Amino acid sequence: MTDNNIDFFISRFEELFSLAPQPGRYFQPRAYRNAAVRFRAHTGHDCEQVRHFFNTTGCPLHSVRARRELVEKTGLNPFLYPAQLLPGCDLLSDSGTTTMTMEQWSQMLLGDEAYGSNEGYYELNEQIGRTFGSQWQQELTSTVQTLFIFHQGRAAEHALFSNLSRMLGQRDVPPLAEVLNGVADRTGVFARLRRAAERVRKRSGVEPRFVIPSNGHFDTTEANIADCSIVPLNLNCDEHRQNDEQFPFRGNINLGELAELLDRIPQHIPLVYLTITNNTGGGQPVSMANIRAVRELTRQKNIPFFFDACRFAENAWFIRERDGEFRNKGVAEIVRQMFEYPDGFHISLKKDGLANIGGALVIRPDGLFARLTDYQQILPRLTDYQILTEGHPTYGGLAGRDLKAIAEGLRMVVRHEYLSARVEQVRRFAERLAGDGIPVLKPAGGHAVYLDVDRFFDGVPVQDRDYPGVALVALLLVAGHRLCELGVYAFELEDVTPPRNNFVRAAVPRLAYEDQDLFACAEAVRLVYEHRARIPKVEVIYGAGLSLRHFKSRFRFV
Ligand code: F0G
Repeated sequence: MTDNNIDFFISRFEELFSLAPQPGRYFQPRAYRNAAVRFRAHTGHDCEQVRHFFNTTGCPLHSVRARRELVEKTGLNPFLYPAQLLPGCDLLSDSGTTTMTMEQWSQMLLGDEAYGSNEGYYELNEQIGRTFGSQWQQELTSTVQTLFIFHQGRAAEHALFSNLSRMLGQRDVPPLAEVLNGVADRTGVFARLRRAAERVRKRSGVEPRFVIPSNGHFDTTEANIADCSIVPLNLNCDEHRQNDEQFPFRGNINLGELAELLDRIPQHIPLVYLTITNNTGGGQPVSMANIRAVRELTRQKNIPFFFDACRFAENAWFIRERDGEFRNKGVAEIVRQMFEYPDGFHISLKKDGLANIGGALVIRPDGLFARLTDYQQILPRLTDYQILTEGHPTYGGLAGRDLKAIAEGLRMVVRHEYLSARVEQVRRFAERLAGDGIPVLKPAGGHAVYLDVDRFFDGVPVQDRDYPGVALVALLLVAGHRLCELGVYAFELEDVTPPRNNFVRAAVPRLAYEDQDLFACAEAVRLVYEHRARIPKVEVIYGAGLSLRHFKSRFRFV
């Protein structure tokens, strides 16, 4: 009888543990435990000092009114608000904000700080081979460098695009404005390209001749490309534009538009990009089929194909979850398959490297980029660039200890227990918000929840130039939570009609928060949403005409 009863409970427990988590209800134990915590605002306990420091009437950590004062003093710009004075969730970015594992910290202590060819370099190179496939490893006896380490993602981007543009200077092709004149425009992609080219011309004073299409360039990537007078162009798939919430791979590139560009103006396209996952487009994954198709299309025209690979593991997790072909495969294997197709990638290791700093540009030695004569000449220039700006190729702007922490992060990030905890937490946060009627992009992205600003303010009489997304972020900052506008203001979408990528993003740092924290943020969002007609307008008091304006601008409530 006793045995029977125990068996009864065992089978009930098994049933319970097999249930999928729901908002506010948990059935499985968590795969990790906190090994270190940080109390917020070590200065916060001495309110006198904080008041004095920030010239406020109360302590912004404990008083909502004092926080309002400080939010206004810092120009309603979340980048300028002091992090230690946030009592709630800091969801400004998932980049470099990861809680590292004990295994990573132990690697930090073992860091080899030799000047050249330190131990971490070899470990990272090996791990790159294990994670992405051995074809990506630097051949140690080769004089041709193909692995370029940088201090973060955008440094890798700048290196690539500035050296690419020097090479392109030698190509004899007319300006885009000229060739686009007579082009028939089946999909409307050329009209968008024309507008984007005009924007680059206005800013740089140079007639652009080249375009780099992507499913979605991130803001700094876009800016780095434009800074070289090359036009960055985002080709969101139709399902994303139509807000198809059932479509599992909303991060895909629009293959019809890409094919049209590649058919008509191939000589103006030096590279094609896929950002995995598509951050600007809602942290949405790209399917394996889409990756294969881009490889196919670019190969037909002999144009190199690159990944912006920041969130490669999250992308692979979604492929496993949502594409039957991969259900029985491990994420590590899916990642290696994804990386069979591109010729190069750059990555910010501050995301799926699980590290607080680091980036890389990796060129596949047997890929198109390394083989085509035009592009080949870029490799030695990249080595020079790296030495001039970052450091010797064997450490590239990072300490030896960082290299080791990244190698360990790349080992960890493909583990299923990590990825399921990560992605499901973001999903529960999104579902919690959606359950309260708040318009969030669905399905939820891998690293962040995106509030759809156009739908959030549907029926409220506000204009783009009232910057309601900026106002929403500022109010939530007053509530004590930090989100980020990635929409009309960040991407200068004032004259673009919906549907468009007009979001306020809540990016979830890895292994840092518990649901309870995120749900507290959701409550603040719910409150603001319920009273959305009362959200004040904002005006720009500094920076409207600047490049990269969202990082620098200041606003005030009107
Ligand atoms: N590419 C993507 C897709 C990114 O999301 C980022 C950074 C970068 C490139 C640049 O990398 O920051 O290391 O220089 N995204 C962060 C974010 C900042 O908040 O989404 P970095």
